[in-house]
Amino acid sequence: MSADEAKAAAARAALAEVKPGMRLGIGTGSTAAHFVRLLGAEVRAGLDVAGAPTSEATRRLMETHGVPLLDIDAVDDLDLAVDGADEADSRLTLIKGGGGALLREKIVAAAARRFVVIADASKHVARLGAFPLPVEVTPFAVGQTTRKVARALRETGCAADAVSLRMAGPAGKPFVTDGANYILDCAARVIPDAAALAAALKRIPGVVEDGLFIGMAQRLILGRADGGADIIDVA
Ligand code: 5RP
Repeated sequence: MSADEAKAAAARAALAEVKPGMRLGIGTGSTAAHFVRLLGAEVRAGLDVAGAPTSEATRRLMETHGVPLLDIDAVDDLDLAVDGADEADSRLTLIKGGGGALLREKIVAAAARRFVVIADASKHVARLGAFPLPVEVTPFAVGQTTRKVARALRETGCAADAVSLRMAGPAGKPFVTDGANYILDCAARVIPDAAALAAALKRIPGVVEDGLFIGMAQRLILGRADGGADIIDVA
């Protein structure tokens, strides 16, 4: 079976957490897309739920699959958020933002009383940092911010400090987020202290949000190649 089928298995296992009447946070990316598709089938079969999307792409996907949309500003909190991740360690510290949606993803996860992460097993790592950490930054003075972000990587003991502006494609233009910001991809190789790095990044004025999700997830569901799933709960 392919990684995509493992992602679908994780999404299927997360559906067991969804109960009638829940207000959901709905993640972004290929794994979350499986969740939207499966949730849409449940809605068509009569399940009464609504979800706050973490990106415009997910909003469109929810519309396609008939999942009712929820305005996150119309509620105080969400019952459950389900989203993918680029990396997750055993303490359920995450790197997110590979799809460029980390700001809305973090806002939605922070609004949820329970946050469940779905992924294929390749996303479970012993040490964070092989996947370049996405950091959302303001377009203004992006060069200044880039240098300060590189210094933050160095000063918090990361194994590398190569920071690059994410580009949108062959047109040679920067990638622009749903919030009209840019993304810096930080090739840290190894992040020895995620909390120290997150704190250092938050002190940089041009940084809008970083892709380190610390102490937010309660459960990691890792889809398996045989269609089953393994569960890691926060200690
Ligand atoms: C988007 C994200 C995604 O959750 C992350 O990139 C994982 O994506 P995929 O499920 O496609 O592997 O953080 O900003």
